[in-house]
Amino acid sequence: MSQVVIGMIGAGNMADALIKGLLGRHVLLPDAVWATNRSNRERLAALQARYSIRGTPTKPALLAASNVLILAVKPKDTLQLLAELEGTVRTDQLTISVIAGIPLAVLEAKLPGVPLIRAMPNTSAAVLASATALTAGLHATDEHVRTATRIFDAVGDTVLVPEEVLDVVTGLSGSGPAYVYRLIEAMIHGGTELGLTGDLARRLAVQTLIGAARMLAESREDPGELRRRVTSPGGTTMAALGVLEDRGFALAVRDAISRAAERAREMAREFGGRDGQDAKR
Ligand SMILES: NC(=O)c1ccc[n+]([C@@H]2O[C@H](COP(=O)([O-])OP(=O)(O)OC[C@H]3O[C@@H](n4cnc5c(N)ncnc54)[C@H](OP(=O)(O)O)[C@@H]3O)[C@@H](O)[C@H]2O)c1
Repeated sequence: MSQVVIGMIGAGNMADALIKGLLGRHVLLPDAVWATNRSNRERLAALQARYSIRGTPTKPALLAASNVLILAVKPKDTLQLLAELEGTVRTDQLTISVIAGIPLAVLEAKLPGVPLIRAMPNTSAAVLASATALTAGLHATDEHVRTATRIFDAVGDTVLVPEEVLDVVTGLSGSGPAYVYRLIEAMIHGGTELGLTGDLARRLAVQTLIGAARMLAESREDPGELRRRVTSPGGTTMAALGVLEDRGFALAVRDAISRAAERAREMAREFGGRDGQDAKR
């Protein structure tokens, strides 16, 4: 990626995670990363100092220097940002939006002819372990998708999906870390109610999660198969799983993903997109 110069528009948590991954994994040199924000000069200066990147309080220098833009503002600030960018982004500038819930159609209407990619990372980008889905806009080429994939591979694992499934992706991996945190909270609570100290319950629960995740990632076995292997007939695990299924565990998770996806569609409609998709697709 020696030719790539990235301009981060928005210098918050997601920009920080991406910069950390890109520099930490030597995908880019600090000189090839620009960042700007709206008004918080201290936060921009801290980001600039932490990574020795180029910070600028205004957009023109960043827009002139970058061939890849990353839009990393909150959804509520998007329309204001698009108004500022209208007519200033070049059609040779790959523009990647990590903004949750803003459909490509909305971005394409304001940035006509610009190659756009929508990305849905998750909060684990901060520890370089995001599950990220990308979806390509009308003017994005395979080369643009390869560049975006390399950027997000620096903070985890990246998949390419059509925009119509991005809401489900949001429900599964975008919001997913919170479901896992909720499960771990419940395990810690259960352990402490039954006599463990909080520290011990946390330590055991977190290591159990890490171990199970590594088994899944490294063995590539079906999770059902791994579950069956630790479930001896008549044993403790079988007794526990029986309780979870009686209480509707799998159904609750399925409905949670479905509700999050529906909420993503509602949010997209609030921004004038049609169910999160471009009507032209
Ligand atoms: N955090 C995550 O793990 C995560 C995961 C998936 C998706 N996302 C998406 O990533 C986006 C950013 O999230 P975040 O957590 O990084 O938010 P954040 O920490 O609040 O950062 C938002 C940044 O946007 C800047 N900004 C707002 N309006 C601007 C404008 N008109 N021009 C330039 N900069 C502007 C803010 O500047 P000031 O501070 O000066 O106001 C701030 O630097 C969100 O849309 C979110 O949905 C985040």
